[in-house]
Amino acid sequence: MRYSSVLAALSAVGSALAQQTYTNPVLWYDLADIDVFRKGNQYYYSASTMSFSPGAPILRSGDLVNWEFIGHSVPRLDFKDTAYDLADGKQAYVRGIWASSMQYREYDNTFYWIGCVDFKTTYIYKASDPAGTWSKVGEIGTCYYDCGMLFDGQNIYVAYGNTKISVAQLNNDFTQKSTTQVYSSSITIEGSHMKKINNRYYIFVTQPASNEYVLKSNSGPLGPYEFKIFTKAPASGIQGSGNPHQGSVVDTPDGDWYYLSFIDAYPGGRSPALAPFVFDSQGWPSLKATNGFAIANPYPVTPVPVKSTTGTDTFSSGKLGPQWEWNHNPDTSKFSFAAGGGLVLKTASVTKDLYHAKNTLTHRILGPDSTATIQLDISQMTSTDQAGLSLFRDNSAYIGIRNGVVILQRDLTLGANWNTLSTGRLETSASLPAKTTNVWLRLHADIKPAGTHQGVFSYSTDGKSFKQLGTPYTMNTTYYFFIGYRFGIFNFAEQGLGGSVVVKSFDLALGAK
Ligand SMILES: *[C@@H]1O[C@H](CO)[C@@H](O)[C@H](O)[C@H]1NC(C)=O
Repeated sequence: MRYSSVLAALSAVGSALAQQTYTNPVLWYDLADIDVFRKGNQYYYSASTMSFSPGAPILRSGDLVNWEFIGHSVPRLDFKDTAYDLADGKQAYVRGIWASSMQYREYDNTFYWIGCVDFKTTYIYKASDPAGTWSKVGEIGTCYYDCGMLFDGQNIYVAYGNTKISVAQLNNDFTQKSTTQVYSSSITIEGSHMKKINNRYYIFVTQPASNEYVLKSNSGPLGPYEFKIFTKAPASGIQGSGNPHQGSVVDTPDGDWYYLSFIDAYPGGRSPALAPFVFDSQGWPSLKATNGFAIANPYPVTPVPVKSTTGTDTFSSGKLGPQWEWNHNPDTSKFSFAAGGGLVLKTASVTKDLYHAKNTLTHRILGPDSTATIQLDISQMTSTDQAGLSLFRDNSAYIGIRNGVVILQRDLTLGANWNTLSTGRLETSASLPAKTTNVWLRLHADIKPAGTHQGVFSYSTDGKSFKQLGTPYTMNTTYYFFIGYRFGIFNFAEQGLGGSVVVKSFDLALGAK
């Protein structure tokens, strides 16, 4: 190729990149209650995790479309209730972390997270490096329900509330200085996100779970605020899903604005959807195209690729990647990393109830449908231990090993107050060859809202040929549990502790295998 044609080819690549488009969801994982902001050319995104631990995952992106997990704001659900440890016979399902806020404070070059827990206490955490160690700053003895934090110079504001929207002002040590009701709506609104844009104050709020409104004040953070529709039940472009709502807004370094919201897409949960928007001369926002979520939009900036969501984790780095979360706080004395790779799960609970077993390690299901395969070394299990791979939510099923056979347990359910209603029933079992030490368990899950909603379980003793076990399990699509279905890797003891398994690998692939 001659030099000039190399240049021509390079500029063709450049314009192809500039014209590259994205579609929603930008990441088909359950990551609801988004708070997003930009620091330099990096975007950060925080989400809800309810009773999974660590809580409040942080994702980072260089282009608002390609996101990767980098850490968690709440290292442990340290909320003065042993239910978060699955201790004392208690469980904390549907409690914990929801509709919280993470922002960067230039004033002290620190990242902060704030969230109300159990409708009574608001906790604050901070970190100098969002991918590093987060620590508790303090707590406020009141609930900032569905809160959104704004750092305005030295001032700290938190918008919160349902229908009656308030703005709290905090002192420099994050204690409450004052709180003022700034708006009372005739329709239900919540999910506040507070921003200062061009010297105007905004509180973006949702009318669950369809419309997005905005409160705008040209005077100051405490109002007076005017109230207008931002987007009316926008289409998501995903068949069978809800409307993108309860999002947060962010600009690019060039001054283009984007709204990152989430769509209800059960059984998978709530996934992020991005659309460009503009401000009119009065400072009122509206989507650039009314169907802006449902169409292919140009990338906000030049695409910045991230680590693939799919592939094999061999647990060889000596710590869990930030995409992993335990069901409730783990007993850290009951897991470790094997030399040369593999996660050792010692039994951590004596129970027959997966919902009450400590140390179930969970991973979000990748949509539209994906397959998880784990390799388990079962040689150190006792005859009354159960270990395996579950399709985990308030209505669950699992494939597991018990007493040397592979079993399919289904119809585990949580009932009133999210306590265990049923530990499920054994649908079927299959024997394994004598002296089997390694088993592969596989689960294909279709979480498309308009899909089959089925989970199909299979197993293998060589990692190559898999055999389906039992009939497909149909996932429940009600939203009350809020968190979507997850892959859950577990090991519990029906009788005595002491047994263990090694999770040698976890492989995630798109589609069926
Ligand atoms: C789905 O789960 C809800 C509880 O969240 C329950 O009331 C309902 O009966 C379940 N539906 C089916 C089909 O099992």
